[in-house]
Amino acid sequence: MTGREMSGPLPPAGCPVSDVDLWSDAVLTDPFPTYRALRDLGPVVWLSGPAMLAVPRFQPVRSILSDWQRFSSADGVAVGDGANRMMGESILTSDPPVHDRYRKPLMDQLSPNALAAMVPEVEATAVRFASAAVEAGRFDAVADLARPYSLTVVADLIGLPSEGREHYPALAERAFNVMGPANERSADGFAALLELRTRTNEACRAGQLAAGRRADQLCHMGRADLVGAYTWPGIDTTVNALGAAVALFARHPDQWARVRADRSLIPSAFNEVLRLHSPVHYFTRVATEPVDVEGVAIAEGSRVLVMYGSANRDERRFGDPDRFDVTRNPTEQLAFGRGVHLCVGINLARIEAHSLLAALADRVTRFEIDGADPSGPQWLVNNTLHGFEHLPVRVVAA
Ligand code: HEM
Repeated sequence: MTGREMSGPLPPAGCPVSDVDLWSDAVLTDPFPTYRALRDLGPVVWLSGPAMLAVPRFQPVRSILSDWQRFSSADGVAVGDGANRMMGESILTSDPPVHDRYRKPLMDQLSPNALAAMVPEVEATAVRFASAAVEAGRFDAVADLARPYSLTVVADLIGLPSEGREHYPALAERAFNVMGPANERSADGFAALLELRTRTNEACRAGQLAAGRRADQLCHMGRADLVGAYTWPGIDTTVNALGAAVALFARHPDQWARVRADRSLIPSAFNEVLRLHSPVHYFTRVATEPVDVEGVAIAEGSRVLVMYGSANRDERRFGDPDRFDVTRNPTEQLAFGRGVHLCVGINLARIEAHSLLAALADRVTRFEIDGADPSGPQWLVNNTLHGFEHLPVRVVAA
């Protein structure tokens, strides 16, 4: 055995090393000081815990995501080897041309044109949820607003039966844990992912899906496997973005006042929310050949942690990066990824978020975080997702 084999993989020459545990509860619930420290260390940092390279700055993250030929998803995009072996081939874990077979049917259903007809339905759902929240006066912006709203939009769009649909968000959230390193959370995530797949397949097999809606269409095309593209990554990502939006507007009432005064700022404001609180912390890629990333030699076969949330706070790209500014319109932010794996649900997520923010802007003059409520605010502890678990708020109605 060579010295290299005995000591496991080693950092590339000259690559800074960090022993931070990105998956500790403390870092997952408040990752931004750690992200900054990693960005300060260099464009590529060796994480000694998982023995893996991490890419915390904006420009290299953008380049890696744009370069599927040299940074492949085909060997999985999770941190842990177990998850990468277990998950098998999927839209997330394939490269072109195989990837096209997964992506094309979903693009056909999720393009702006394909979604145009359902915009009034989403807007009506947004009004219903915003009105109920305002009527309640005090509520949990995650449990009572973002989660049931996002679930309703996605479940109605694809035609999931009403019975049992309430189980999907919690299962999907737990399933996101499989994308992390092997730890207790990822072990639980495997069980959740299995149950999620079983539920989705069963609904398809038992003919419980609303006729003509998107899941039914996919099942009739023999693509029941793609229904999971809605029920897994399609709900909790948006939930976390919407929870973060309410928290930011509660903490920055001046920014909410600007949005209320000018609704054309809503798309820009949502980009800014995603930049500051990117719902996905990380996925990974594997280098298919030796690659130089800003002077660091990445060896063929190296797994690289792509840090979306850190890239979006990079001071090299965004001036005063921790400031929430609804007029900034950071269209280049990377919360939806980039390149061939750019989030296929991006149009749906935007319609959902813009509709809810507009409905709230019509009804709420001010959000206040309810510090007296014993349940929160509380950050989510998840290997992959970033956002709030609980966010008790009070609203002042318009
Ligand atoms: C704010 C909400 C959302 C965020 C922040 C988000 C984030 C992301 C990110 C970062 C990726 C890229 C993965 C990679 O680089 O490997 C992705 C891909 C994906 N997202 Fe989303 N997502 C959101 C909403 C949705 C929705 C509503 C759907 C439902 C249709 C969805 C379904 C997917 C799927 C199927 C992929 C895989 C695409 C591919 O690999 O080609 N996402 N998402």
